[in-house]
Amino acid sequence: MKLTKIEKLQGEISVPGDKSISHRAVMFGSLAKGTTHISNFLAGADCLATIDCFRKMGIEIEQEGTDVTVYGKGLHGLEKPEEILDVGNSGTTTRLISGILAGQDFEVVLSGDASLNQRPMKRIMTPLKMMGAEIDSVNGNDCAPLRINGKKLKAIHYDSPVASAQVKSCVLLAGLYADGKTSVTEPALSRNHTELMLRAFGVDVESHDKTAEITPPKEMNATDIIVPGDISSAAYFIAAGLITPNSCIRLKNVGLNPTRDGLLRVCRQMGADIQMENVRDNGGEPAADLIVRTSRLKGTVVEGDLIPTLIDEIPVIALLAAFAEGETVIRDAQELRVKESDRIALTVDHLIKMGADAQGTEDGMIIRGGKPLHGAEIHCAYDHRIAMTFSIAGINAEGETVIDDAECVDVSYPTFYEQLNSLHES
Ligand code: S3P
Repeated sequence: MKLTKIEKLQGEISVPGDKSISHRAVMFGSLAKGTTHISNFLAGADCLATIDCFRKMGIEIEQEGTDVTVYGKGLHGLEKPEEILDVGNSGTTTRLISGILAGQDFEVVLSGDASLNQRPMKRIMTPLKMMGAEIDSVNGNDCAPLRINGKKLKAIHYDSPVASAQVKSCVLLAGLYADGKTSVTEPALSRNHTELMLRAFGVDVESHDKTAEITPPKEMNATDIIVPGDISSAAYFIAAGLITPNSCIRLKNVGLNPTRDGLLRVCRQMGADIQMENVRDNGGEPAADLIVRTSRLKGTVVEGDLIPTLIDEIPVIALLAAFAEGETVIRDAQELRVKESDRIALTVDHLIKMGADAQGTEDGMIIRGGKPLHGAEIHCAYDHRIAMTFSIAGINAEGETVIDDAECVDVSYPTFYEQLNSLHES
């Protein structure tokens, strides 16, 4: 993909459905008794991998674009798959499904692509083993492929060392099959879509501060899910609208769950002009239209409990920082090193390659804004968020930017380049 400087962006788009919510809707619909309709489903590669896994375990799922119907067979309705479950590039599929598989009465093997099979899985193996699960790393390196032999599970309280919704969700989902109440406390509150959606499926889940507790239900009841737009996808166009000159764009129906909206708080701290219209609530998952205008930005500090609420947006926040006046410091974000790529290293290296003043630290980065960017060749290591961040950099840089492996945007945002062109041409 080749990109060059754009004079302005204008028009409106609806960003695709939320990735985290789409995964959960398929998983919980499969475990519920009855039919779950999902609208505005994200038909990206990650969520399609989740559908594929549940189909292989005997669940009938119809998918036509963004409309999905799941014919759930109840908590004990999954069947042993005949082959390995292929989780592709998706950490969410791997970690959440492992919690579910730990409580089944069959054995399965999960495996993904080269990036997925290098990501740390000890973080879920430890609590699942505490619950009595049999889960092993096939190559003995605490990564996938994982072999899981379902067992009767013990309820536990787990003090998670990381603020990770994937770890929290894994333990809570194993808790569906445990012999009592299972709870998880995390160091900072991570996204709470699992807790909200399990409640919508009739499960008793309580949340207090940084602890969530699940009571194992007899059954889960099917329900319909309307997926709001994904703020993590909107993030690229929020950034594009703010830094591209003369721009005004409307992003329709963006999910604004408070455990996900840290990006907006940081943008406001930086002086961004972002207005909200048509605020609405989709069963506890609020959404609104965002109107984003070109803004003069200033540097800021991003740290602490804010980090889990914007974890996937940090590469694009770093890009905003390169266009802001003064210094931006991002810290407490060591989790970025174990995402689809080492996002601290890749973000800093590419910003420097494009002419920015950026420096990596162990748990974040320091960016001194204001240096003009020039085009560069971007190797995104098949990381969708790096590809999209540097595409937005490319339309604001002198000369040509080339993104290799740009098709990896399909993981979370198959229509990304189409929508970028529509805002450019309208
Ligand atoms: C996700 C949680 C986050 C996030 C990922 C999706 C989820 O990961 O980075 O893209 O859907 O639960 P961690 O829980 O590992 O931080």
